[in-house]
Parts: sequence; structure tokens; C-alpha cells
Amino acid sequence: MRLLDQRALPGETIYLDCRQPDEVMEAIRTLTVRGAPAIGVAAAYGIAQAMQLAVRTKDLHANSFDAIFDETCKRFGATRPTAVNLFWAIKRMQETAARWHIRGLHERAAMLVEEAKRIHAEDVEMCLAIGRHGAPLMPQSGGVITHCNTGGLATGGHGTALGVIRTAVAQGKQIHVWIDETRPLLQGARLTAWECAQDKLPATLITDNMAAHVLKLGHVHAAIAGADRIARNGDSANKIGTYGLAILCKYHNIPFYIAAPTSTVDIGCDSGAHIPIEERKAEEVTHLGGQRVAAAGVDVFNPAFDVVPHELIAGIITEHGVAKAPFEPDLVAMVARARAHHNQVEPA
Ligand code: MRU
Repeated sequence: MRLLDQRALPGETIYLDCRQPDEVMEAIRTLTVRGAPAIGVAAAYGIAQAMQLAVRTKDLHANSFDAIFDETCKRFGATRPTAVNLFWAIKRMQETAARWHIRGLHERAAMLVEEAKRIHAEDVEMCLAIGRHGAPLMPQSGGVITHCNTGGLATGGHGTALGVIRTAVAQGKQIHVWIDETRPLLQGARLTAWECAQDKLPATLITDNMAAHVLKLGHVHAAIAGADRIARNGDSANKIGTYGLAILCKYHNIPFYIAAPTSTVDIGCDSGAHIPIEERKAEEVTHLGGQRVAAAGVDVFNPAFDVVPHELIAGIITEHGVAKAPFEPDLVAMVARARAHHNQVEPA
């Protein structure tokens, strides 16, 4: 598996060859590959790789295949806790393994590779559809603020929130992107700014604490962010700082949208209170680019995500349309539609 190392961007374009599933797990943990949909895609390929390697072992029995498969799924599930796309992708791989259970082990491994490719391709299609549904919500001409990175890097391709902006611009809208730098790991400054530059999208970078002032100046007409997990009632977990941005938007009367595929909707989770929030190591806050910036010994709290309550969200854009308040009926229907679509296209 070849992964673009997102930690090195924008300075260097480095590809990491992962020859073992452990290396893919480490890449997810360390944010070499990141963004909820991209994490799911990477895990699916990693599981497929593990089983491809396993069947090359002589005399592998069906029971050992199952044991390696279960253990690999479990270990991928322990890499990052918040992005539900990871667990969604693992479930898809488990369903595939179960469907082909009576076949030979080589065939089962090959089917897992096919499923990973399908998850990847479907993600691109979902992003393009999100773009089509979301573009009409963007201003004809004006500023749109976004947080973290939700572009091609964070997905199978095109992106979710940034994908909506891309589609709107492709349709002729004149959008200026305001990019929150997104402390502590700077996904906005490093990755969204890089993607905007690649696409020649007009964009301005601000530090997170400048957003209130920029909104007050009237530069921004809509806000759009991605999500790592959306509860059934519409509460949406996303990169730390998204909640603050949504509150600022409410105060300034600016619509705040979430854009995410249905693979990000956790229909079994009734509210944001039950979304697990990842806490990461202190060095991400005390250091910048490897340089210590905080006083030594200071205590640090580093939650990687926060939850935007549904009442701050003007609409949740998925590949099946725009869910509006009260979100639950729309989200339940969209997830059901996605499942029905998947069952239709699934191989017999
Ligand atoms: O910690 P990260 O960089 O994986 O967090 C990513 C985000 O919060 C994104 O906004 C989210 O996953 C949506 S990506 C389309």
C-alpha cells in the first residue's frame, strides 16, 4: 500500500510504502493518512493486505484465516476512536468475509481486495454527490469559512466540505475560502491551504482565534466543515475548534453546514454525548514543528475533536441530499437509502 505522507505536506511530497498491515495501522495512528473517510479506505486496504499476505502462508487453514482476519479487524478498530468511518469500513470487510465464507481462502482474500477498492471508489462517488447537493447552499459570490482539512487528502477524492466548495466553484460561483489554521496539528494551514493552491481557489489563511473578527468584518457568508461522527439527532463531532466556529456563526447569523457521507452517520448513537472523543499526546500542543513552544512541565489537555450540537447546524449535506432539523428522520432515511443502494450493487 502506498500512502501520501500527510505529515510532510506541504513541504515535501513523500510516499510511504506499507508492506505490512502494522505499518498501515501506524500510518492511521500517526495521521500519515487522516480524515474520516480516508481512514476508512486505508483500513479496508490494510485488512485486505493482511489477508493477502496470510493466504501466501503455506497450509493456512480456514480457522486460522478467520482468526487472523478477526484479530486484524480488532487491531484496526483500535487505531483511532472517533471517526466512525473506520468502524463502518471494518464492518463492510467483515460482511464480505462472511459472504464468501464457503469459498477457498485465495478467493476470499481476493474478494476482500475487491471490497476495499469498492469502498474507495464509492467514497469518491459519495463526495461528488455531496458536492452536487451542497453547491446550491454556497453563496453565488462571497466568503466561505472552513475548518481542518476535508478535501481530496481526507477522502477517497474530491472531498466533503472542501468538495462542496470545489463543485460550487466549478459551477461558476465566486467563492473566497477562509481557512482556519486548525491548531494543534495545522490541517488547515498545511493541507487545506495546499489543496486550495493546487486548485487555484482564492483563499486566505487565518489562525483559529481570528475567526470571530473575520466574521464580524462581514467577509464570510457561509461556513462548512466535515465530520468524524454524526449522531442520529444531528450532533456532529469534528476537529477540535469546529464547535467554537459554529457558535461564532450563530452569533453572526451565518449558516453553518456539515458535509459528510452517510458512512459518517452513526445511527446507533443517539446524541453527541455518546461520541468517543480521542485525546492525543501532549507534545502536539507543547511543540510546533518539533520545537517546544510551551513552558516545560505544563499540564496539557489535547482533545482531538469536539461536538457541534445540532441546533447550531443549518443542514447536514450527505450523498443523498441535505438533512434539516429535526435531523433524525432525514438521517435515518438517508442511511436506509445508502444501505438499500449497497445491497443492490453488492455481488451475489
Ligand atoms: O484528526 P484528523 O485530521 O483525522 O481530523 C479530521 C477532521 O476532523 C475532518 O474534518 C473530518 O475527518 C472530515 S474529513 C472529510
